[in-house]
Amino acid sequence: MDCVRIEGRAYVAGRFARVRLGREGCRTLQFSNDYIILPGMVDIHVHFRDWGLSHKETLAGGAAAALAGGVVAVGDMPNTRPHIRTAELYRKRLEEGASLPIIYRLHMGVPGDLAELDAARPGSVKVYPEDVETYGWGHVEALMRRCASLGCVVVFHCEDPAYFKGAERPPEAELRCVERVRLLASLTGAKVHLTHITLPQTAEASRGWASVDVTPHHLLLDTENCRDPGLCLVNPRLRTPEIRKALLATFAAGLVDMYATDHAPHTLEEKRSQSPPPGICSIDVSLSLLLALWKRGVISLGDVVRLYSHRPARLLGVEAGETFVVVKLEEFKVRGEDFAGKCRHTPFEDFTAFGRVAATAARGRIYFRGGEVYSL
Ligand code: NCD
Ligand code: ZN
Repeated sequence: MDCVRIEGRAYVAGRFARVRLGREGCRTLQFSNDYIILPGMVDIHVHFRDWGLSHKETLAGGAAAALAGGVVAVGDMPNTRPHIRTAELYRKRLEEGASLPIIYRLHMGVPGDLAELDAARPGSVKVYPEDVETYGWGHVEALMRRCASLGCVVVFHCEDPAYFKGAERPPEAELRCVERVRLLASLTGAKVHLTHITLPQTAEASRGWASVDVTPHHLLLDTENCRDPGLCLVNPRLRTPEIRKALLATFAAGLVDMYATDHAPHTLEEKRSQSPPPGICSIDVSLSLLLALWKRGVISLGDVVRLYSHRPARLLGVEAGETFVVVKLEEFKVRGEDFAGKCRHTPFEDFTAFGRVAATAARGRIYFRGGEVYSL
């Protein structure tokens, strides 16, 4: 494979500088000032499926979508078929992920037998509302104690199912869960991350004891501007415009630690059915949606790098130092048909994004939009 070096304007340590990346002796590709080079993005919350759900997405398809979006490392979720609750399944899945062109990490599912954690030694464990229903809060507390001693992060989809009202999942379910988990964190000493939070109160309440992330859809979509019953259905639910705007203001004020997609592929047929499954696809354009907020002056470029590269890399324990993404500074319309994975539908269709990903470099290779691949 041909090797290339990249020359262009990079955002490094809070300012722009001309850089040359790659090895001596390789052909040099120059990028003009219409482009910027950023560190590779890290997404702590994705669903790359396979394992009984390949019709929705595959590990390879998910990785292609990630690279198309400038994402070089992911934290995949354990809700495959079967759900990843044992050391054996955890290792097997990690082995499969190791051959991907991106850096692959996995959040382990809650094991019924907590001894599985000692065997698996996961970096993190994902707790779903369904786990609370199945095993009870007592088991979650025991899990947190075990993680406190093993050093794993407990990642919560924080909605207390006791407050669900049929198909309705009101904000109260999140507020109550946060209160409960806060108490458990102080009792157990576990390191906690609250993923896809939807309320500004959660960001405020988490200070000092948990890190939090928000998704592009909870920042940008609400019950008014997203009304398609299938494409807009997601857990936690989209909120009212008032709540959504307050969350965006909290995000802009720097009270959120990370940005993560919760990229959750389902087939278009499933999403168009009478009972559509929850989940939104966005990883192909997540960086560009974030850069559009920079373009609008809502956040700084430093925020983009902190929220979607540095902080998430720390949570996953990945070294993203050798990775980067080249972005063209232009506006474009989101088109699901341009997505690279199996999932080509998105409620962000027609949204104006900014900063088209021109190339993504990960694991010693650089992948250009359009398909060319070179070693670095
Ligand atoms: C998740 C999925 O599709 O795996 N969907 C979602 O809306 N976030 C599962 C879930 O969180 O219920
Ligand atoms: Zn998810």
